Amino acid sequence: MTVRRDGEAPIRILVVGDDPRLRALLETTLLSEGYGCTAVSTDEDALDWIGAHEVDLIVLDVKPPDRIGRDLVDRLGSADPAIPLIVLTGQEDARIAVDMMKRGARDYLIKDHGLADLLVPVVERVLRQQEREEQLAEAERSIGEREGLARLGEMAAVVAHEVKNPLAAISGAIQVIRHGLPKDSPHAAIIEEILERIDNLNETVNDLLLFARPRSPHLASLPVRSLLEDTVSLLLQDPELREIQVNLSGADLLVKGDAELLKRMFQNLLVNAAQAMQRSGEISILVSRRRGGCQVSVLDDGPGIPPDKRPKVFEPFFTTKARGTGLGLPIAKRIVEAHQGRISIVCPARGGTKVVVELPLEDGGR
Ligand SMILES: Nc1ncnc2c1ncn2[C@@H]1O[C@H](COP(=O)(O)OP(=O)(O)O)[C@@H](O)[C@H]1O
Ligand SMILES: [Mg+2]
Repeated sequence: MTVRRDGEAPIRILVVGDDPRLRALLETTLLSEGYGCTAVSTDEDALDWIGAHEVDLIVLDVKPPDRIGRDLVDRLGSADPAIPLIVLTGQEDARIAVDMMKRGARDYLIKDHGLADLLVPVVERVLRQQEREEQLAEAERSIGEREGLARLGEMAAVVAHEVKNPLAAISGAIQVIRHGLPKDSPHAAIIEEILERIDNLNETVNDLLLFARPRSPHLASLPVRSLLEDTVSLLLQDPELREIQVNLSGADLLVKGDAELLKRMFQNLLVNAAQAMQRSGEISILVSRRRGGCQVSVLDDGPGIPPDKRPKVFEPFFTTKARGTGLGLPIAKRIVEAHQGRISIVCPARGGTKVVVELPLEDGGR
């Protein structure tokens, strides 16, 4: 038997203590209950292990004379996310246990003959508590996100109103001037530049609205491959993207979706891919049936996303481009989530960027 959370990897417990017999006892008890378990003898080994492996829980033997463990408790307290800790102390050392709890330990056990029996129930309780805390933090984060979005939605509506109307007026006025210019006027290029910038600004405001106040999808049964074909051929009409090659493969699965929104979402991904490849290279799109849904992966052979930037790319306004809005991926994410789907990004070791979108199938995956 192996203890797992939600079908994921087994729960990994790290045992730290300098007494080999105690280590062996803890390790056998935990392994026989189906936990993954590793035992080490020093603080340094423990920190090394944590630095290189996933650890869900630490069981630490604290010894008063040589201070083993005290330092570790302090150093672990500042780790993020915090790994829950159970300390073991001698019968006479209740004070140490209290001290350790103050420093952030979750629970303690006294080292006596009942240890092996008590260990597993305490481990289970601490793991349950940790899980509840993680769920709470996740709920708080998502409430905060929703509140932020609601505020942004109100602001976006005001900005849109304040910006779009004057922009339309300016654009109209400039066009009047353009008509009045002689054909060979040296100002013609400047006028074109102004009009182009106004278009861009208008598009940014539209993006902001789409992000902050998305409409709910009008669901219909859509052949996803045909939808992608349309999006790709529209994109390739841009003369600047003539050097891009797109390979589309997989089945024409039927998804439950809003054609306009999904096209917009795929367009955002393809534009990013094209821009990442400096407008020349290959984009591979694969449609497949996965985990009861429809998976579409969009892979480019651009430079990939540096690891430190990966967590940020779905944040609104995050961009690494001189003229980027940083709204392409946040909009894509909102659209996918409004379809009860999922979107994620992986950067394969051999290079490039792969965006994976999962959408519900029309037949519910049957
Ligand atoms: N296919 C990709 N390859 C490399 N980087 C990407 C890719 N897609 C997105 N990114 C990174 O994510 C950032 C955010 O993308 P996005 O939200 O579409 O905004 P924008 O394209 O306006 O910058 C980009 O600026 C870029 O750094
Ligand atoms: Mg973009």
